[in-house]
Amino acid sequence: MQFELSNKKLNSIKADFELVFVQNKNLKKFDKEKDFFKLNNFQGEGALLDINNRKLFIELKSLSYEDIRLSLCNAYKNLEKLNIKSIKMPSIIGDCTVRSFASLAEGMLFGAYKFDKYKSEKKTSTLKKVIISNEEINGKKINLDEAKLGLKRGQILANATNFTKDIVNEIPEIYTPLKMAEDAQKLAKENKNITCKVYDEKFLAKEKMNAFLAVNRASVHPPRLIHLNYKAKNSKKRIVFVGKGLTYDSGGLSLKPSDFMLTMKADKSGAAAAMGIIKAVSELNLNLEVHCILGATENMIGGNAYKPDDVLISREGVTIEVRNTDAEGRLVLADCLSYAQDLKPDLLIDMATLTGACVVGLGEYTSGIMGNNEELQNEFYLSSKKSGEYTTILHFNPHLKELIKSNIADVSNTASSRYGGAITAGLFLDRFIRKEYKDKWLHLDIAGPAYVEKNWGYSSFGAGGAGVRMCVNFLIHLLKKIK
Ligand code: BES
Ligand code: ZN
Ligand code: ZN
Repeated sequence: MQFELSNKKLNSIKADFELVFVQNKNLKKFDKEKDFFKLNNFQGEGALLDINNRKLFIELKSLSYEDIRLSLCNAYKNLEKLNIKSIKMPSIIGDCTVRSFASLAEGMLFGAYKFDKYKSEKKTSTLKKVIISNEEINGKKINLDEAKLGLKRGQILANATNFTKDIVNEIPEIYTPLKMAEDAQKLAKENKNITCKVYDEKFLAKEKMNAFLAVNRASVHPPRLIHLNYKAKNSKKRIVFVGKGLTYDSGGLSLKPSDFMLTMKADKSGAAAAMGIIKAVSELNLNLEVHCILGATENMIGGNAYKPDDVLISREGVTIEVRNTDAEGRLVLADCLSYAQDLKPDLLIDMATLTGACVVGLGEYTSGIMGNNEELQNEFYLSSKKSGEYTTILHFNPHLKELIKSNIADVSNTASSRYGGAITAGLFLDRFIRKEYKDKWLHLDIAGPAYVEKNWGYSSFGAGGAGVRMCVNFLIHLLKKIK
């Protein structure tokens, strides 16, 4: 889909259809801006089609960025049925900032996302062009530079998020650790400032990444440690992302019940998000150095499987009692976080579909933010909110820390109580964070929004691309702060 800013008046632009935004007339809060929009006798449920005049009236509940995304997604869903090639619309939407234009593009591109690879009948949309008129409305004119920047940013963010969704939605038969390595190398080939190194099981053994290797043992697919790197010429900070890349999580010998195993192809969402992030960072040319460390493996069963009762010696030297082989993500992350700290990051963020407890506690749409640095967490929270992703901070406390004590090793991979599972998992990871990085580290549990089995908001069934927008937005925020 192509977005075009036109200097022509809306009426003189040639397009197959016109989009007319209608604000909820009951919305008194936004009374001031009300007359930016043509108010018609609008009674439809979010959209009203005027075939004769080739207009689609679409509800814009408020001028918030989230409502712009929802409204444009809704518009796309209605337009795609019409077999048209182009649409036109006014430019005065929301507060006309970079963010409002980014939201416009995001809404459209999220509306257009489909994972129909395995459907015999594919519904391909003909809509290719969105023309936005730069015409003044009620004396208000947009800032062209901001509009262009916003549209570009929105397209990059939405495409990167959709790229992540494609990886997560792909089936486990196809999407093995080797396939993830292949995709990472392809990403490096397509983006000139990204490089990629892929390490095999021999390297993992040499690096003493025994926790990671244990998880992989019963899988017929070898593991891969994938290291992606982006470096701008004028880079201001070094950021390292670590992603849980479980291409399938059966639970291992502590086997998951069938109902819980389903959707575990999505256990690679943390790694997939990191790939989307570095893609966006490179396309946005951010003045940063970004690394992504992806731990790619399956968690399977077999005679060779690691067992509850085993003790693993991790790369950091911390010994781990395995009490449940389904708490495998933290084992892979422990070794990957160790590797990541050797890169001397200014900021270290791990992303993982780590616990069912996080989904129980926060619901399916919200990610948990954890760490030791409250200021950093608060800053990340505020920035994630603006990005359109839902998050909440889950605070550590010393009493929960007690629950991961082990009688025979330094730490247990499973808490002794079922309460507070998202936080005890975060506290387990904290055991692998060195003193000097405690305050530079954030853990994001994306188990909920990474994969939802229904359409919600502007996200469609399946992968949600969780992590991409919030992290890239945070990086943009960090750069603004430096300036
Ligand atoms: N991949 C799962 C967590 C998960 C559950 C993600 C549901 C998305 C949706 C993780 O590896 C896991 O199984 N965690 C266990 C930990 C427990 C054994 C301590 C869990 O949450 O039940
Ligand atoms: Zn598991
Ligand atoms: Zn898992």
